[in-house]
Amino acid sequence: MMVVMMAALLSYPSSIVRCADPDPLQDFDVASSLVLRNIFANATVSKSDGGVRAIVEPKHLGVQSHQGVSIARYLIEPCGMDPPHTHPRATELITLLAGGPLLVGFVDSSIGQLRSSFLQANDVAMLPRGLMHFMQNIGNTTASIFSVFNSQNPGLLVSSVGLFRLPIEVVAGAMNQSPKVVKHINKTMLPI
Ligand SMILES: *[C@@H]1O[C@H](CO)[C@@H](O)[C@H](O)[C@H]1NC(C)=O
Ligand SMILES: *[C@@H]1O[C@H](CO)[C@@H](O)[C@H](O)[C@H]1NC(C)=O
Ligand SMILES: *[C@@H]1O[C@H](CO)[C@@H](O)[C@H](O)[C@H]1NC(C)=O
Repeated sequence: MMVVMMAALLSYPSSIVRCADPDPLQDFDVASSLVLRNIFANATVSKSDGGVRAIVEPKHLGVQSHQGVSIARYLIEPCGMDPPHTHPRATELITLLAGGPLLVGFVDSSIGQLRSSFLQANDVAMLPRGLMHFMQNIGNTTASIFSVFNSQNPGLLVSSVGLFRLPIEVVAGAMNQSPKVVKHINKTMLPI
């Protein structure tokens, strides 16, 4: 089982805390293209055994002037997975264009309940802002996926990476394991 990797999204150019993306300051950026052709040639693409993920930053779409949207395009091979992660600033609307089926799910913040389902081609799922989610291609053909985010800077934290950035004693305590076990897990995790 392999993991697809996400590239860094555009960093937010302000230290001011906001609860939403800012309003546009101009109609569009005249220097940007209207159409993004051949998306895997133009977006930030990362490849692995599990698939290809292309992240399209606002600057690729002529929305540099704060249009408050971004997209992602994924190709995930059979058994490939987009590992559990969060986007702190955006809800994700994910559409399975072809292939799959795709198992998608998130954990809610009430009692940590898993809500998951299978997407067939042309099905859409909503992954709420800030909630940990994942997707896995459980079919025999490459899953072709398109996602829209309601922020030009959704942010990304891969959950396993975030957890293991904490002090080892904290991780060990949280998992009720010895530091030795934590160290072993940390060392043997797949790179993302
Ligand atoms: C996409 O990439 C190709 C090759 O690098 C480039 O010629 C073309 O201008 C790019 N298109 C857009 C819309 O950015
Ligand atoms: C994938 O292929 C296997 C083996 O041929 C088959 O049993 C299974 O039903 C297929 N799965 C899907 C989702 O088509
Ligand atoms: C896990 O490994 C990373 C990378 O080597 C390291 O930065 C981090 O401190 C480790 N975490 C724990 C809990 O040992």
